[in-house]
Amino acid sequence: MTAPVPTVPELLSRHRAGWSLERPFYTSPEVYEADLQNIWYREWLFAIPAAQLRKTGAFARLKVGAYDIILVRDAKGDINGFHNTCRHRGSVLCKVSSGQVANLVCPYHQWTYGLDGRLLWARDMGEDFDPSGLGLHKVHTRNLCGLIYICLADEAPDFEPFAEMARPYLEVHDLHKAKVATSSSIVENGNWKLVWENNRECYHCSGNHPALCNSFPLDPEVAGVRADGTVSPRLQAHYDRCEAAGAPAQFRIGGYGGQFRFARQPLQDGAVSYTMDAQEAVKRPLGRVKLRDAGTLLKFHYPTTWNHFLPDHSLTFRVLPISPTETEVTTFWLVNEDAQEGVDYDMKRLTEVWIATNDEDREIVEGNQQGINSPVYTPGPYSPEEESGVIQFVDWYVKTLSRAVGDAPAAEAAE
Ligand code: FES
Ligand SMILES: [Fe+2]
Repeated sequence: MTAPVPTVPELLSRHRAGWSLERPFYTSPEVYEADLQNIWYREWLFAIPAAQLRKTGAFARLKVGAYDIILVRDAKGDINGFHNTCRHRGSVLCKVSSGQVANLVCPYHQWTYGLDGRLLWARDMGEDFDPSGLGLHKVHTRNLCGLIYICLADEAPDFEPFAEMARPYLEVHDLHKAKVATSSSIVENGNWKLVWENNRECYHCSGNHPALCNSFPLDPEVAGVRADGTVSPRLQAHYDRCEAAGAPAQFRIGGYGGQFRFARQPLQDGAVSYTMDAQEAVKRPLGRVKLRDAGTLLKFHYPTTWNHFLPDHSLTFRVLPISPTETEVTTFWLVNEDAQEGVDYDMKRLTEVWIATNDEDREIVEGNQQGINSPVYTPGPYSPEEESGVIQFVDWYVKTLSRAVGDAPAAEAAE
């Protein structure tokens, strides 16, 4: 006789802290649906850098689970979010992933919407037709210092606690003066949580990331968190130096279960950016961080984004789930809008470290998923020294999902 399949609350309640999750968390359609309903459809999600939509009418499309979303810059310069579903009979409006339009025109019967989502024109709908209630369904959006966030919930959670913590760190990086030098999207055949677990430790770096290791340090405190929340004197000295030079640096973590974190971490001695020789990638810097070796401002915000903000350029990564065992990871390379390719930066030099690193991480995550797919897999212990960040991520996940399915305290102090 086969054992009954445990429910999501049962799986959550028997999770052993400090150990990896049980197999269904990485494989089952039921857990995946619970993740979508309770995390992806409720939380604020990083969508794109505003710099991706620099002109009026520029749009980008993205998918979050069952939702298909368009972000478009309107004539006032605001970036609006809409569901990519026509109010006539539901066709998608935008079929391509990005572009530029004067209006949003449905390809089916040409209902035409303004860049603010209002229905402007619909042919032969009769004299009594009232377009005023048939604007595009809106998606909550926020522009945080040049980072566009969306929320799919009817009632979005309060964005301000996160924004308040984020602003001082982000402001000095001048993302509103950025352009997207390039971006890359890859699909990793692994559950989204494996992508995150892999991101939150550098236990794997020395054996897998030769290019990244030219600049990123192997000190576990740089990628992770100390279990007791303290900071080593060496890191504190780095934060103090950065802050004295006007670049907020102090390690701060906030949000329910530690949903987001900021810290300006040092790179290897002598390293200043993510290039093969660890020197600058861009001559004309993005932002006002004057200290060449200020390192990398690390930001994560579960469940969609981790980021590296450097003195010369910025990198923002977006994670989107596709299925229980597929995840899209998109990387945006942001440079000063006045920097010229071939003059101020070379595209290969700018991108090669993270293109290689992303591909190495993809292979790691896929190997992790394949091993977990075997029925013999059982959770294993995380290293308290090397994988404190993974423990922190899994704790956040278990807490957040438990809260949503009614098994944890509804509120918690933000910090
Ligand atoms: S479905 Fe869009 S115009 Fe008919
Ligand atoms: Fe990695």
